[in-house]
Amino acid sequence: GKDGYRHFMDKELHEHPVVIGQTLQRLIDPATRRVMLPDLPFDLAGLPRAAITACGSAFYAGLIGRYWLEGMAGLPVDIDVASELRYRDPPLTPGGLGLLISQSGETADTLAALRGMRARGQHILSVLNVEQSTMARESDVVLGTVAGPEISVASTKAFTAQLSVLACLTIAIGRARGTLTAAQEQDLVAELLDLPSRANEVFDQAPAIREMAAVVAEARDVLYLGRGSSFPVAMEGALKLKEVSYIHAEAYAAGEMKHGPISLIDSTVPIVATLPSGRLFEKTLSNLQEARARGGRLLVFTDTEGEARLRGLAEIVVALPTVSEFTAPVIQTIPVQMLAYEVALLKGTDVDQPRNLAKSVTVE
Ligand code: M6R
Repeated sequence: GKDGYRHFMDKELHEHPVVIGQTLQRLIDPATRRVMLPDLPFDLAGLPRAAITACGSAFYAGLIGRYWLEGMAGLPVDIDVASELRYRDPPLTPGGLGLLISQSGETADTLAALRGMRARGQHILSVLNVEQSTMARESDVVLGTVAGPEISVASTKAFTAQLSVLACLTIAIGRARGTLTAAQEQDLVAELLDLPSRANEVFDQAPAIREMAAVVAEARDVLYLGRGSSFPVAMEGALKLKEVSYIHAEAYAAGEMKHGPISLIDSTVPIVATLPSGRLFEKTLSNLQEARARGGRLLVFTDTEGEARLRGLAEIVVALPTVSEFTAPVIQTIPVQMLAYEVALLKGTDVDQPRNLAKSVTVE
């Protein structure tokens, strides 16, 4: 049941902290605080590259995974949505890692891409929530997201669980390839283990998120901006808004704005930015200043460190707990999904069963 929540989406949003914790628990040894993967039928150190594929939100989780795998494990990554990948003829290096991500394990395009990757000699590792699924049966290894059943058509908690698995996988591959030292691994694991309590603090921001929702609910179009590993978070926010509120939203890499979408900006197109403090903060901030100068209304998800630097520029600021650059996309995802939910409430849509959508897309 909904445990007293109005919608499954709201209930599942509130499960983020627990789900992140449960998923990490499976992959991190509490005694040594090291990442422990199940036995693999291939050697992580010898992987030439990885090819990631998925659909929808799971694809955005994969984009964040690419950021981590390239940057922290030094592993070259190809990534595409499954519906495209299955009809491309990518020359995959034999012995590479085919990395599939799916909540249901039944998505037709992702399954077809899995089979195509196998035919091209990839080791198949799937990140799945439903561990008794068709994709699970056809994989060499399954890393489970311990999110429990996700009922709402709009995926929420499965996403942060997928990120938790991808983060651990990155650490394991980085260790195997020698890009991460034991000390670095300890630090990264500590950052991961800190996530459930930081995620809990996100809900304290509900009032500011509702204030944002009131602005977004009046709009016809919304532009989401992010950079680096926060760009896929912006994509996730835009997708969720479209799905449950039926408001058109588009996510752009912040640096691409001046290559086109800046012409859209006026006071009727709110800009939702995901902007954690860190290396890329100043870069994105200057994009936001450009948007502001053109009359754009800025609704910004940042952290307590970024907040001070944004005052005066943004109309509404959601100050999330400050975490490392590594784990920031996990924390940032929760409030962008909450925003979509709050807008849907204001619009009065059928939140858990949006029109035209199915929970599991088992046909092409
Ligand atoms: O079951 P899967 O993770 O393979 O599903 C993939 C997409 O269909 C799914 O993420 C979809 O985009 C959601 N409705 C997003 O909220």
